Amino acid sequence: MQSMLQIAQEAISQIPLQRRLRDDDHEIIQRHHQELLALGPAVAQSFEEVLYSQLTSGAGMPRESLERWWRRTIDGPLGDDYFSRMAFTGLVHVTQGVTNPMMLAMSDHVVQLVADAAASFQPSDAERRELLAAVGRVAGTVRAVVAWSYEQAVSAALYEVAGIPAALLTRLRDQEVTAVLGKARAELGTLGT
Ligand code: HEM
Repeated sequence: MQSMLQIAQEAISQIPLQRRLRDDDHEIIQRHHQELLALGPAVAQSFEEVLYSQLTSGAGMPRESLERWWRRTIDGPLGDDYFSRMAFTGLVHVTQGVTNPMMLAMSDHVVQLVADAAASFQPSDAERRELLAAVGRVAGTVRAVVAWSYEQAVSAALYEVAGIPAALLTRLRDQEVTAVLGKARAELGTLGT
């Protein structure tokens, strides 16, 4: 398996240029450092209210882990170390039974929380738009890295277990998925288009 940094870079390289993190995104976030940092407890609380009450697995992210992640995200820097840690998070999530749909939905929820809060702490529309665009690109990059590393970790584990070379595994996967596609088409046919 590649290093966490390689996985993070690979994920980021797949993000369209318009949606990539920009050099000044961190600076825009810094202009609202105090207000954003103060959202930490609300972010942690919202995980509990929105998601954990519905989980049967009990795989909730500990409050201090969440608050640490939030602080690190707002403080920056959002460079190689930060995104390597996000790649590491994908692996942690695999072992904790945290699925990508859970992670993606909660990331979306966090962005919404910032948008709602920004309405009260930022009087200028232009500045608020800039801030939310920057936060959106950070969240999008985090999601891409966590989801990609999750997928890479699962493939690498299968490769290790089955002893099948990665390229062959990919070819076999595509073959199998092509076969499943036929069934999926039939299923959609019954649902209508
Ligand atoms: C916005 C989406 C999310 C982000 C950015 C995120 C980020 C993180 C980070 C940074 C860690 C710590 C990894 C490390 O040790 O360095 C972590 C661990 C963990 N996350 Fe998430 N996570 C997200 C969503 C979720 C969700 C939805 C769940 C539960 C359903 C979850 C459950 C966990 C658990 C159980 C751990 C292990 C914590 C520990 O052992 O201390 N995460 N996550």
